[in-house]
Amino acid sequence: MRPFAYACSLAAVAFAAEQWINEVDTGLTDYLFSTNYTEGHLPLLKDMRAVMDFDYAARQFLDNQKYSFYRTAAGGEWSYRNNLDVWKKVMLRPRHLHDVSKLNETLPVTFMGYNFSAPIFIAPAARGGYANPERAELNFVDAAAKENILYTAALYASKTIEELAAQKHNETMNGPQVMFQQACLSLLNHVQIYTNVNLSVTWDAMKRAEAAGAKAFVWTIDAPGDSTRHRAARYDTTNANAVTSALTWDLYDEIKSRTSLPVIPKGIVTVEDALLAVEKGAPAIYLSNHGGRQVEYSPSPLEVAYEIYRNAPQVFQQVEVMADSGVRYGTDVVKLLALGVKMVGLGRPFMYANCYGTEGVEKLIQILKTEIVHDAAQAGVTDLKKVPRNLVRLPTQFDTVLKY
Ligand SMILES: Cc1cc2nc3c(=O)[nH]c(=O)nc-3n(C[C@H](O)[C@H](O)[C@H](O)COP(=O)(O)O)c2cc1C
Ligand SMILES: *[C@@H]1O[C@H](CO)[C@@H](O)[C@H](O)[C@H]1NC(C)=O
Ligand SMILES: *[C@@H]1O[C@H](CO)[C@@H](O)[C@H](O)[C@H]1NC(C)=O
Ligand SMILES: *[C@@H]1O[C@H](CO)[C@@H](O)[C@H](O)[C@H]1NC(C)=O
Ligand SMILES: *[C@@H]1O[C@H](CO)[C@@H](O)[C@H](O)[C@H]1NC(C)=O
Ligand SMILES: *[C@@H]1O[C@H](CO)[C@@H](O)[C@H](O)[C@H]1NC(C)=O
Repeated sequence: MRPFAYACSLAAVAFAAEQWINEVDTGLTDYLFSTNYTEGHLPLLKDMRAVMDFDYAARQFLDNQKYSFYRTAAGGEWSYRNNLDVWKKVMLRPRHLHDVSKLNETLPVTFMGYNFSAPIFIAPAARGGYANPERAELNFVDAAAKENILYTAALYASKTIEELAAQKHNETMNGPQVMFQQACLSLLNHVQIYTNVNLSVTWDAMKRAEAAGAKAFVWTIDAPGDSTRHRAARYDTTNANAVTSALTWDLYDEIKSRTSLPVIPKGIVTVEDALLAVEKGAPAIYLSNHGGRQVEYSPSPLEVAYEIYRNAPQVFQQVEVMADSGVRYGTDVVKLLALGVKMVGLGRPFMYANCYGTEGVEKLIQILKTEIVHDAAQAGVTDLKKVPRNLVRLPTQFDTVLKY
């Protein structure tokens, strides 16, 4: 009994002292209210200094229904909160007296054979039109081209596959802009909701994306059913893919057989599924808990990357690994790179930044690039392509060595 009671009282103290809040206080509101800013308006873009600032800005600017769709997560939002909180459990082991003067030249990355200016990307997220009704995701295409990063368009984007393709820029680090396309089981005709998914809709969308010049598919594997999202449900804002379906590895094989493009499974959260994906010939894998929006209590990419690292480290050599969910600071990116992740994505922050249009999206990318270089330099990293594993100090509760 004693250890249990002891643990409980400790937990009680911790809860009393530390109430969870969405944005850590870094002085944004103190600053804004010292200017002529009034609540309920979009703050000036020049006053956005951190990734999380864009969440505050979007909450002021968007109506509750729209903000809630972007912000919502599953169940009690424990996974969502864990995605944001988990980083603080992992201290760095900064090494000093390293020459970091050439670190910024190591920011660019080659992923799936394409060159990008940084190991960050815009994750696929539906309904960009909520933040910017006129241009929606066209702002993502423009900003990604200008900053030479990867944009992966969502199947349920507000703009069509063809509209997004027509916006692509011709002069990027890869010549014509490289974009990936997210796909999933589609159920566009909600009248059919009780039957099952309509695969011909999916094949059709994939054909269109291929014709429009997409370079890879990101296949969402973590949405086999509808999700429990109270924050959005209050406004009757529902999901596009709201059906319990036969989403299986056999279907993955069929998808691969229907396209010549690489198909990257998105939503891997266990070492078992990472190994299965490798076995199935996936060219890359995408660690994600969908920003905590699908199954509640799904782990963060940091925990997943560590599980893979501890149980099957070869995976990081066999396939290229991308990851998202809860990434908000340069140090978050550096920690994932240390574990072997190659490309790190963000979802909500880009949706929020789009309230400012292309300029806001660009500024978010610039903030991230600057933080990655500054934080890695401070930690004594000399090459972002070779961030040492022992840069991160992982706590014992992360140590899931499995017998699979
Ligand atoms: C508004 C919104 C819509 C999303 N729509 C999709 C989608 O259609 N398909 C998909 O695979 N993931 C979707 N996602 C998940 C993102 O691709 C990504 O995994 C997630 O946002 C990462 O977590 P973060 O928001 O904490 O960065 C969506 C996320 C948000 C916030
Ligand atoms: C505050 O005043 C400045 C000029 O000093 C102006 O440029 C800015 O638009 C104002 N901001 C708001 C939110 O009213
Ligand atoms: C890296 O930083 C140095 C010194 O600040 C600067 O001269 C150089 O242009 C930067 N290189 C890149 C690729 O940003
Ligand atoms: C890009 O190149 C294609 C084909 O060469 C051309 O049709 C298109 O107009 C160009 N787009 C822009 C924005 O210049
Ligand atoms: C990517 O960059 C490398 C040099 O780092 C270069 O050799 C290669 O041609 C580039 N690839 C593309 C597609 O531009
Ligand atoms: C499936 O989608 C296709 C293309 O939109 C449509 O022609 C067909 O009628 C749909 N089938 C069912 C059973 O809903």
